[in-house]
Amino acid sequence: MAKDDESWIPGRVDVDWIESKSRPLPPALAAIEDAAQPEDIPIVSRDAGRALSVLAAGRRRIVEVGTAYGFSTLWLAMGQPSDGTIVTIDPDRSRTDLARGWWREAGITDERITVVNAPALDAFAAGDPALAGPFDLAFIDALKPEYAGYLEALVPRLAPDALVIADNVLWSGRVSGARPADAGDARTEALRAFDTALLRDERFNATILPIGDGLLVASLRS
Ligand SMILES: C[S@@+](CC[C@H](N)C(=O)[O-])C[C@H]1O[C@@H](n2cnc3c(N)ncnc32)[C@H](O)[C@@H]1O
Repeated sequence: MAKDDESWIPGRVDVDWIESKSRPLPPALAAIEDAAQPEDIPIVSRDAGRALSVLAAGRRRIVEVGTAYGFSTLWLAMGQPSDGTIVTIDPDRSRTDLARGWWREAGITDERITVVNAPALDAFAAGDPALAGPFDLAFIDALKPEYAGYLEALVPRLAPDALVIADNVLWSGRVSGARPADAGDARTEALRAFDTALLRDERFNATILPIGDGLLVASLRS
């Protein structure tokens, strides 16, 4: 890289350019965006969704913690093999029932996606058979202070070459200190501790992709 380019990092213009050159958003994904926005339902950004879809290639068995309206679920389903399956966990049935309608609209058959309507840590502790694994990819996107707990519950359920992905790990710049944390918000410190531990965790090869709100990507070392 030339010396005068060294301070350049991709920004909003670049993200928008990538989106403008990408395949148009399928109607079901557009419908989820339209429904989530007025309700303030936090879903992954479009660029994070596209990244999830690419990372799901070849991953037959996926588990997701935090479904909401099924936006990330659908990106994952579209990227994995067409006979792949996803188990997705969210205690909020009113959200996951709506998600099912959009998955169907996108042509994803009901057999491919199993919903577990329970708090994830409870479902893992109860030994829900749907969560037995082994899973080829795990996506974490629910309660931020529980990320470390989800990870430890997931590790024994992972296939040998599994990928673990977690969203919001940069927390809009609050984790690195680029922006000040909100007073009394435990999520920044929890995410910082989660990132710091996982980036040096000997069980994984991990990094953070500065996509969306930060996607931590970790592959299990064999
Ligand atoms: C950020 S949203 C998930 C967004 C989704 N991954 C997407 O990008 O389309 C977080 C979801 O976690 C769910 N949630 C809350 N507590 C949870 C828990 N204990 N276990 C699993 N999910 C939980 C919420 O109901 C919410 O729908």
